[in-house]
Amino acid sequence: MQIIRSVQEMQALAYELRSKGQIIGLVPTMGALHEGHLSLIRLAAERADAVVVTIFVNPTQFAPNEDFNKYPRELEADVAKCAGAGADYVFAPTHEEIYPKGYSTYITEEHVAKPLEGVSRPTHFRGVTTVVAKLFNICRPDIAVFGQKDAQQVAVIQKMVADLNFPVDIVVGPTLREADGLAMSSRNRYLTPTQRQEALAISQALFKARDMVAAGERRKDRLVAEATHILSQQRRIRVIYVALVDRRTMEPVREVEPGNAVLAIAVWMEETRLIDNIVL
Ligand code: PAJ
Repeated sequence: MQIIRSVQEMQALAYELRSKGQIIGLVPTMGALHEGHLSLIRLAAERADAVVVTIFVNPTQFAPNEDFNKYPRELEADVAKCAGAGADYVFAPTHEEIYPKGYSTYITEEHVAKPLEGVSRPTHFRGVTTVVAKLFNICRPDIAVFGQKDAQQVAVIQKMVADLNFPVDIVVGPTLREADGLAMSSRNRYLTPTQRQEALAISQALFKARDMVAAGERRKDRLVAEATHILSQQRRIRVIYVALVDRRTMEPVREVEPGNAVLAIAVWMEETRLIDNIVL
């Protein structure tokens, strides 16, 4: 497996791979890789000839008060994990490679990015769409794999790809969870054992909604009320939102239309912000 640090080198490699007729699969990440990330790399390896994992903690998607500085960075361990999961290349650029001095071009999706995460993190998706568009231009993938864990990110990127005619197929991998249900996340390592235990209420709320839908419940009010109730049992949790939305537009829906609705939850677990969701 090869590590690439410069944009120029990555673009030359992408050109070479494409000219040999290889299908390029891209897995963008911010590193601190866990099994959830690795499952996306394995998915890319099934569908592509050459798998490129990008590792870049993207400053433009963090607000000034967020955890950019304390976000875990462990490139060496990540590289080993990428190799084990079937990656062929790791593209790990420096800040200056992606945002050279004087950088001034941004991409904003102006509809899907507005609700939910967009309310409390109004500049977040602008950073995500900007860096993902740049990674598409640098790595020239045929397919790019994203995790359902970040349901709104998937919807925003799908919209950007459609609106800007990026010739990239977006593949969505399922959310990987710990044995007890907690969605895997690089931010879980911020949690104390007590916080981690209380955080289980998030997946329990989602699973309860899934069971209610399996039993025939369709109404938003009932599903949201039950999920909110489960979260409210934990004194360390402060709910940011519990919302039933269309999985593509992120607009609120009043009823579950099976397969098209997402129940999305964001909470503060004391000072750590956690999100999770389930497709209903
Ligand atoms: P990051 O949080 O590192 O996540 C990288 C990819 O892994 C995303 O597509 C995310 O949805 C997916 N992922 C995270 N946890 C997962 C889990 N438990 N199961 C399955 N997939 C999971 O998302 C980002 O980075 C950034 O916003 C990025 C797209 C790289 C742009 O900077």
